[in-house]
Amino acid sequence: MTAPLASEKAMVPFVSVHNMMRLIHHLGIETMLRELADLIEDDFRRWESFDKTPRLASHSRDGVIELMPTSDGTIYGFKYVNGHPRNIAEGLQTVTAFGMLAEVSTGYPVLLTEMTLLTALRTAATSAMAARHLAPKGARTMALIGNGAQAEFQVLAMKTVCGIDTVRLYDIDPRATEKTRRNLVGSGLAVLPCASAQAAIEGAGIITTCTADKQFATILTDNMIGAGVHINAIGGDCPGKTELHRDILLRADTFVEYAPQTWIEGEIQQMGRDYPITELWQVVTGERPGRHDERQVTLFDSVGFAIEDFSALRYLRERIRGTDFHEDLDMIADPDDPRDLYGMLQRAR
Ligand SMILES: NC(=O)c1ccc[n+]([C@@H]2O[C@H](COP(=O)([O-])OP(=O)(O)OC[C@H]3O[C@@H](n4cnc5c(N)ncnc54)[C@H](O)[C@@H]3O)[C@@H](O)[C@H]2O)c1
Repeated sequence: MTAPLASEKAMVPFVSVHNMMRLIHHLGIETMLRELADLIEDDFRRWESFDKTPRLASHSRDGVIELMPTSDGTIYGFKYVNGHPRNIAEGLQTVTAFGMLAEVSTGYPVLLTEMTLLTALRTAATSAMAARHLAPKGARTMALIGNGAQAEFQVLAMKTVCGIDTVRLYDIDPRATEKTRRNLVGSGLAVLPCASAQAAIEGAGIITTCTADKQFATILTDNMIGAGVHINAIGGDCPGKTELHRDILLRADTFVEYAPQTWIEGEIQQMGRDYPITELWQVVTGERPGRHDERQVTLFDSVGFAIEDFSALRYLRERIRGTDFHEDLDMIADPDDPRDLYGMLQRAR
């Protein structure tokens, strides 16, 4: 006997990597980055209405696996994400992810999706949203140190949200820089590969560090940082994994996502608890100043927070409604009588 089709309640929209790629091309990547930056900013503006917790991290010798939950009281979301810097030597990615949304009222899932691409988009959109508040006015040149999987997304978000027209690239592996240069042909940006981090930051108003290494690294030292720049530090996002020399932090005004998580994972893990920081949502709401002086060095100590994923998930849920950019997964058991789960099992005999 064949099993009867599951009812509508049992079906959860699922966005595969293939459908995510189709959707990004359909909407246009720069449009998506702009819309995501705005939506993340909207959710930062209502920061206090979210459940917040530092993400749950399972560390091992080679990397970390993390769960990132949050809820606004109506919708609950979480992301599963890993960070394994040595994966690329095996032909695997450093970061992969998937995630879901559920209705708080019933606990029923309403979306399951790939989030490797969506993470690259939301991380770039968050960087650009932060830079919109913190970068020097009129910055047109960006340096990007670390030219891996996140690279092009970071550049395109800074272009479309902040108006940069030139990017200077550096990676310890020249093949990564060449890959990024090639992918940005036709983007409308001047793309300049550089021979060192020092050369890359020349004349840049925005410096993004996006390297992956499971150690305290020093991608930038204090003598490299001139007055007035904005540093967008993406790659230091685990205990023992940082990118900046602590002397930079002593000079910079530092902005974070969620302080209890950033103290564990961010550049500020190098500092004492009396080190002054501002949560970015306070700048977004106007409660605290962002950039107030053209000589000020600003630092966005990004580690990635659950609310950014929540914003990206709710954006995706809206964008796939009524389209064929998803398939339906028979994910929820749906007995005719809710107490008769065993009886439902007999449908498949
Ligand atoms: N903050 C966030 O929200 C967020 C989100 C996603 C990824 N990340 C982090 O961003 C980093 C980059 O992610 P990815 O997916 O692009 O990784 P990736 O492994 O694809 O790329 C990292 C690149 O950094 C280069 N690199 C390593 N050490 C370097 C050094 N000393 N100088 C210059 N380049 C160096 C590598 O050669 C590689 O090309 C990772 O550390 C990841 O954990 C953060």
